[in-house]
Amino acid sequence: MDVILSALRAAGEPTRLRILGLLGHGELTVTELTQILRQSQPRVSRHLRLLSEAGLLDRFREGAWVFYRIVESGPQAYLARTIVDLLPEDDMEHQRDLERLGDVREARAEAAAAYFRANAPHWDKIRSLYVPEEQVEKRILSVLDDVQVNDLLDIGTGTGRILEVFSRHIKRGLGIDLSPEMLTVARASLAAKDLAHCQVRLGDMYDIPLANESMDLVILHQVLHFAEDAALALKEAARVLRPDGVALIVDFAPHDNEDLRDDHQHRRLGFADEEVSLWARAAGLGTTAIEHLDGGELTVTLWRLRKTAAGQQPKSLELVS
Ligand SMILES: C[S@@+](CC[C@H](N)C(=O)[O-])C[C@H]1O[C@@H](n2cnc3c(N)ncnc32)[C@H](O)[C@@H]1O
Repeated sequence: MDVILSALRAAGEPTRLRILGLLGHGELTVTELTQILRQSQPRVSRHLRLLSEAGLLDRFREGAWVFYRIVESGPQAYLARTIVDLLPEDDMEHQRDLERLGDVREARAEAAAAYFRANAPHWDKIRSLYVPEEQVEKRILSVLDDVQVNDLLDIGTGTGRILEVFSRHIKRGLGIDLSPEMLTVARASLAAKDLAHCQVRLGDMYDIPLANESMDLVILHQVLHFAEDAALALKEAARVLRPDGVALIVDFAPHDNEDLRDDHQHRRLGFADEEVSLWARAAGLGTTAIEHLDGGELTVTLWRLRKTAAGQQPKSLELVS
């Protein structure tokens, strides 16, 4: 009873109700909430603190920014969602809040677009070296079509594209990335497509901000070639996988295009199948399928790995080229 009573008490105030109504549409920073609510930052922060203390909101820091969102599980999550659903759409104040939320999102999308414009030529150049991205995405979906996914983790999510590709096949998607600029692009893109079940967070692939055994599928798409210690990254990915969970690595096969190192900060010029399988085994993952996508200067490889019980090896290894 105490938990519900304190949550109801916290929600039972006009500004806090408005805050819940806004966060029902996705996570927001204190500054964004201040702009929308037109109240001073100390006041907004106080309301947020009360809602967080009552267990209705989660708070997480990303560099200098602090984001708030409605909690995901427990009675408070149910209560908060129910309150959000009950808010009358024709309420004038709620409508004004949502209009201002639209403006805030537009400004975010513009910042993301500016970053994207500045970097797009750089990304396009790399893309031109291998098979079209759509073909890679089609193969990724097909290589994983037998995997039941409630929780997907996309490591090094960048613009959040992999979350988008999987959005129809998962219950929840989380992308982590070290770059706040990339996360701005990802957030704007996920919001524009109304993919509220997919979120992104600042996070390091060597220190993933998740509990052990919390994910069904982990994807590292074009990320491992930046890694200083790919074996360690894989070990960390394996840690958060549930037993029998699947990891998919998509990266280049060994190549000798030094430009990628000099101009694009790639640390590794691709990976050999044996090397990846060894790292996988050390991380408690068995290699169940390897697929090479030839076409263009670079070959893209898909390594499908499965979390095995200690010492057990998977039954099949399928090699497709
Ligand atoms: C080439 S992009 C790929 C993005 C995305 N996976 C895709 O394929 O569209 C590589 C991403 O890895 C991120 N990254 C690099 N090192 C990382 C680390 N240690 N932890 C998390 N993300 C990292 C970069 O910020 C960048 O967004």
